[in-house]
Amino acid sequence: GTAITYANRAFWLSLLAGIGSFYYVTQKDRTPGPQLPHDPTKKTIVVLGSGWGATSFLNTLDTTDYNVVVISPRNFFLFTPLLPSVAVGTLSPRSILQPTRYVTRHKARSVEVIEAEAQSVDPINKTVSFIDNSDIQGAVSSTTIPYDYLVYAVGAEVQTFGIKGVQENACFMKELHDAEKMQRRFLDCLESAAFPGQSEAEIERLLHMVVVGGGPTGVELSGELHDFLEEDLKMWYPELAGKIKITLVEALPSVLPMFSKRLIDYTMSTFKESKIDILTQTMVKEVGEKTVTLAMPDKSIVEMPCGMVVWAAGNKGRKITQDLMAQLPTAQTNKRGITIDEYLQMNGTDGTIFAIGDCTSSSHAPTAQVAQQQGSYLARAFAQRVKGDNLKAQLAELEASAATILHEDERKKVLDEAEGVKRQLSKFKIRPFSYSHQGTLAYIGSDKAIADLPFLNGSFASGGFLTYYFWRSAYISTLFSLRNRSLVVTDWIRTKVFGRDVSREW
Ligand code: FAD
Ligand code: NAI
Repeated sequence: GTAITYANRAFWLSLLAGIGSFYYVTQKDRTPGPQLPHDPTKKTIVVLGSGWGATSFLNTLDTTDYNVVVISPRNFFLFTPLLPSVAVGTLSPRSILQPTRYVTRHKARSVEVIEAEAQSVDPINKTVSFIDNSDIQGAVSSTTIPYDYLVYAVGAEVQTFGIKGVQENACFMKELHDAEKMQRRFLDCLESAAFPGQSEAEIERLLHMVVVGGGPTGVELSGELHDFLEEDLKMWYPELAGKIKITLVEALPSVLPMFSKRLIDYTMSTFKESKIDILTQTMVKEVGEKTVTLAMPDKSIVEMPCGMVVWAAGNKGRKITQDLMAQLPTAQTNKRGITIDEYLQMNGTDGTIFAIGDCTSSSHAPTAQVAQQQGSYLARAFAQRVKGDNLKAQLAELEASAATILHEDERKKVLDEAEGVKRQLSKFKIRPFSYSHQGTLAYIGSDKAIADLPFLNGSFASGGFLTYYFWRSAYISTLFSLRNRSLVVTDWIRTKVFGRDVSREW
């Protein structure tokens, strides 16, 4: 009896402590304290972007020693790995966004956040020009500011290879508005297929969803579409759900080339069970309003009717990046992106521009993992840089004062001190960036995920339900804030209990 009473008390006490600490952390987060103002004697870092690289940089940076300005056309961070889940309504859009000000308001010194699109960078005069191109603009909507250091993290845009009709007729899966557009279009196709008097051929066309690109984005999206179909649409559109068809088109001989053969086979067989058609060695040549044109493995050209095309065929550099590289023609010759050195400095600049993430071309894949590690490394390197600058200033001061001291013993004392600082400076160096690969994960639908993990000196490959729960917990732990973690977990529970919403936003 006593043991049960103690257990009972312990349970309620720990529950109360849990609720109390949750409340404390969230309230502390909501009420950041005062910040130091900008200091004209400190150097200014301008950060371009608010994605994986920039946000990780801002999270880690100690702003005590720098003035920081962030410029990005979106005033939030988007957790891209869960974007396909938003496209089918498993998650609410806002659950995977984090306003940039939630990060910057917690820094020691106030950080200026400017919602604007950088138009050009002048690496000679060290300036950035940017414009506000949102719907509402004030009297001033474009300007140019100087920087001491530029952290260039503008990411990449969707690669269309100039293929006809892609820009006009396809949906993408890169930004939040892409996922929302796809969701609207998908449900519109369903409702139009339900319109009275529709012919069988037209119903079949409207319900044919084509995903282009068998990289992780295309595969994850196909898996999510399949879940939506199985778990919800069969209930709410019983007469149509059986006619929905998902086709994944990939130009290469296999999907997911970055995963091991075993996991590729596992994905292919899961997709086969899920009735997702995979067309490999098939190249999309044109996207029309109602069809996609395919070059088949036997070189024949097939025009395939469809209601929706989602284009997930990879990345290409933004125009601003191409323009910046063109200003440094001898150092920047790689068409895939900005060439950087081992300290993430843009080649051809005098240590003032650092580039991170998808806008660069390096030996690493363009992933969130790389951008995140580069961002936090760079922030730590900036802290080191200040230490080095302070030591140099201290040395200069000591040497200058030694030159003015007449008394021999006093001068020797100061010179000894200067020697000590010199020794510290000679040992002082910033370590180069080194990437530590934590593995690759992808969700493939039907509560299954695949994982390539660099364990045991090799690659540990796994797939299935357990991996799926690992995928969930890995993503939850990667989400930057407790707020986002809570929102995503609540959405997962909501979807399990109530299912996904099938109302189409106007
Ligand atoms: P981004 O995160 O794209 O950020 C670029 C920022 O720059 C944005 O804030 C943008 O608004 C801003 N910007 C754009 N133009 C300008 C301008 N002119 N001036 C100023 N700012 C500008 N990677 C993984 O490792 N794991 C995953 O599971 C994963 N899943 C993904 C799922 C999807 C659907 C997608 C699309 C990508 C996924 N990735 C994943 C890849 C990952 O999202 C990218 O590698 C990562 O976003 C790169 O970070 P970044 O900071 O370079 O660019
Ligand atoms: P990707 O570049 O990895 O894949 C695009 C695919 O589209 C390629 O396989 C390409 O052969 C194919 N393709 C291109 N043009 C085509 C055409 N005309 N017809 C048919 N197929 C065509 O692009 P993705 O998937 O958007 O990924 C971009 C980056 O983001 C990658 O580095 C990826 O690793 C990362 N990412 C990682 C995820 C994860 O780890 N779970 C999830 C999503 C993205």
